Amino acid sequence: MENKPSAPTPDPLQSETALELRFLLALHMLINSARIHQDNNRILLTSVEQFLVIIHQLFEEEDEVTLLTSAGRLYLRQEKLVYRPNIAGIIGTMLELFEQRKLNGLRFFPAIEQAPPGDIASFARTLIRAENQEKPGEWLEAELNDPRFAWVEAVQASDEDLKGVAAEEGKPEGAAEEGVSSKERNRKENAILTYGYAVTSLQEIGGKVSANRKSGIKKALRMVHKMIDMVTEDSNVLLGLSTIRDYDDYTYTHSVNVAILSLCLGQRIGLPRKSLETLTLSALFHDLGKIDVPKNILNKPGKLSDMEFREMKNHSLYSVRRILLLKTSPQKKAEMLLGPFEHHLKYDLSGYPKTPRKKPISLFGRIIAIADVFDAITAPRVYRPFAISPDRSLCIMQEGAGKDFDPVLLKVFINMIGVYPIGTVLTFADGEIGLVAKYSGEDGAGRDLWVQMLTPSPEGKCLKGELINLGPADSTTKKFNQPILNSAHPAAYNIQPADYLL
Ligand SMILES: [Fe+2]
Ligand SMILES: [Fe+2]
Repeated sequence: MENKPSAPTPDPLQSETALELRFLLALHMLINSARIHQDNNRILLTSVEQFLVIIHQLFEEEDEVTLLTSAGRLYLRQEKLVYRPNIAGIIGTMLELFEQRKLNGLRFFPAIEQAPPGDIASFARTLIRAENQEKPGEWLEAELNDPRFAWVEAVQASDEDLKGVAAEEGKPEGAAEEGVSSKERNRKENAILTYGYAVTSLQEIGGKVSANRKSGIKKALRMVHKMIDMVTEDSNVLLGLSTIRDYDDYTYTHSVNVAILSLCLGQRIGLPRKSLETLTLSALFHDLGKIDVPKNILNKPGKLSDMEFREMKNHSLYSVRRILLLKTSPQKKAEMLLGPFEHHLKYDLSGYPKTPRKKPISLFGRIIAIADVFDAITAPRVYRPFAISPDRSLCIMQEGAGKDFDPVLLKVFINMIGVYPIGTVLTFADGEIGLVAKYSGEDGAGRDLWVQMLTPSPEGKCLKGELINLGPADSTTKKFNQPILNSAHPAAYNIQPADYLL
């Protein structure tokens, strides 16, 4: 089953249905370009052009375009923007931008299409400048009253559209998705935002350090604290996100997944908060040194030559070097180093880099090694488009217990992930398929397994069916109340779990 052909996943920002998201991305790019570039800069002018192209498409359907924020969510044309890990960073950044400026929303009118590009760039700059004003909301409102900006207005708190979306948010739990309480929904959305934000903060650090600029870790640290809070409250949501992967930008999503998996494992074994912080940061930066490995080696589809493999193996040391260059206290750097240095060393001290003194691997090194291998072998890669099914990955790892991995930590990890990790495709005896959606109840085999059933549509895309509870696995037979015939990686079915589980 793992050998079924898989078509590339379409870029959600390019697809027809994602016009709203493309608008948000275009606005985000416009603001970012205005932050960096002068008015006549080519990049800024291109951002203005792109923004106009997208907004023109929106005006074809409606005569005004309103972007609102209410209760920590963004709405475009009264529709809540979907939280997906690959755009959550942008949603998070925009929410923060609105919040800092005490802005309820922005409304654009078709006259923008006739506005000089310089005025659109000035509008973006005005939005940026509002941040430093004493009363940003009032200041911005007054500035946007300038006739140059007749095509845009700041949404007032009394606006009817705003009241409309706020009322939607206030609906009772009965209006929530079947089998999912609104509290669960909120937790999920917060987790997706944090996940996306962690990916973007890591991307920013990666971008800075590869341009040999000094980078701080404040943003990343803020995300780590949020992750720890979430995991302390309920680790299942964040843990699920690490296995429901969006396939783009492997380098950074891999690092965030490894950080989440390490954090959850650390929490399971009772590490105190301060240790969880260091562990998660170490895991986040474990592959930072990959920016120093030539791209042709990093992304090579075929087998690496001996020389290329030697270079690839240097990335643990490169990570240490890069961490030493980060802008943070020497003590913090020292604490973060060991995990990345050791993450490819095995429990029996084989692996790399070779060290003259045979010292047992540190606890963080052992944790990160487990998280790293699990995420790496369950991810479809350039050279391996069909990833191994997540449950089979756990079986393969189990064979390395005591040799490759710390056997006790591995056992805790397998119990934590569950027999079938979230996002695994299951085939049932009657031919139906479903996606492992969540576990509920206590750790281990006693937890209930929930499956999101999928029905193939005539267009070839699967539709969301019922959410069913398979109960806990039988303690002796390890079987569930519905016989599972097979399991597979979602890529083998060209299924993107995020489409069904988020
Ligand atoms: Fe690595
Ligand atoms: Fe890694």
